[in-house]
Amino acid sequence: MTALVQAQELFARVAGSPAAGVWSSAGRANLIGEHTDYNEGFVLPFAIQHRTYAAAATRGDGVVRVVSTFAEQPVELPVAELAATFDGPAGHAVTGGVVPEWAAYALGVAWAALAASGRAAADVPGVDIAIASDVPIGAGLSSSAAIEGAVASALDELWGLGLAPLDMARVGRRAENEAVGAPTGIMDQVSSIMGRADAATFLDCRSLETQSVDLGFAREGLSLLVIDTRVKHSHSTGGYRERREACERGAAAMGVPALRDVTVAELDRARELLDDVTFRRIRHIVTENQRVLDTVETLRAQGPRAIGDLLVASHVSMRDDFEISVPELDTAVETALAEGAVGARMTGGGFGGAAIALVDEARVDAVAEAAAAAFADRGFAAPHAFTVVPSEGARRDV
Ligand code: GLA
Repeated sequence: MTALVQAQELFARVAGSPAAGVWSSAGRANLIGEHTDYNEGFVLPFAIQHRTYAAAATRGDGVVRVVSTFAEQPVELPVAELAATFDGPAGHAVTGGVVPEWAAYALGVAWAALAASGRAAADVPGVDIAIASDVPIGAGLSSSAAIEGAVASALDELWGLGLAPLDMARVGRRAENEAVGAPTGIMDQVSSIMGRADAATFLDCRSLETQSVDLGFAREGLSLLVIDTRVKHSHSTGGYRERREACERGAAAMGVPALRDVTVAELDRARELLDDVTFRRIRHIVTENQRVLDTVETLRAQGPRAIGDLLVASHVSMRDDFEISVPELDTAVETALAEGAVGARMTGGGFGGAAIALVDEARVDAVAEAAAAAFADRGFAAPHAFTVVPSEGARRDV
């Protein structure tokens, strides 16, 4: 059964009648530009064919009820109580046990979408939402942004909010930052919602301007293989937050609003001002921003076979300077390169999740098998390898 049908069936079971429609948004893989988004820099992600579906319809009593296939117990909140529930310190509704984390993505979107539209709670009806997804969870492929994009699209239409795609991305980020309490940037939401088939989204995270960049993988006989290490990570705690704080410290010491404003030529000055660890964190961001710009230029001038070195340099920088890789991710990248991949790197926030490898179509199985063998040799749990294709972002399906 497809995830779309699962969402419809779950909806009918819980609400007792068919959904008015089904809306969806995509998972994403980031081609390059990691941890640059919250530094107001550049990213180059693309939406993938795995999607999250929200089957939804209005209801008469002013209550938002969400249910999903990964936690079938519905969670309800009156529209009138969204603000009281989520206003206040980031993530307090989740840490205080008021709303389970999975439901905070959807209910947080309802809260942030209403606030963004300027509409009063009393002006919108209640809504039932049933969520199902085929985006692998915890793989670094933005299953959370896909929920946010699907729910934002459904509510935009059912509540007549008139939000533009970029507004919906902002709504998703706000839900994640403030309702869930994960201090993430805006890359995932923009990619999930605004992605296009066969293209990546080149996003300037300061101006929020986007450009579609043709990837041409299929034309060049290339496949994008995801190797999910199955090492789980969370961005609401721990390392992600620490990296973000190091970047903010570094920007303050350099006297700039964000690391976006530091150039590669200024790294010598950064080395004098900062301790070794903070300096290496900053060097990752500054060089990664440049690699994104170089990747866009290379894709346009020479096509995807020429970007391999940039992908590998990005991985090395994350492994050695930003220190967000794990042995499983390094093994996936090294094995893919040894098997002839054009390039490979970990993708997403790090500390687990997936690596991506750009490989000749004919080599996909060989690379996947070699990764499985290398993982087995090192005593790691078996990885999960599958190909992804650059796909379209948020839409109404039914
Ligand atoms: C996670 C966050 C994004 C971004 C990446 C790292 O996916 O949600 O905002 O910071 O990590 O590039």
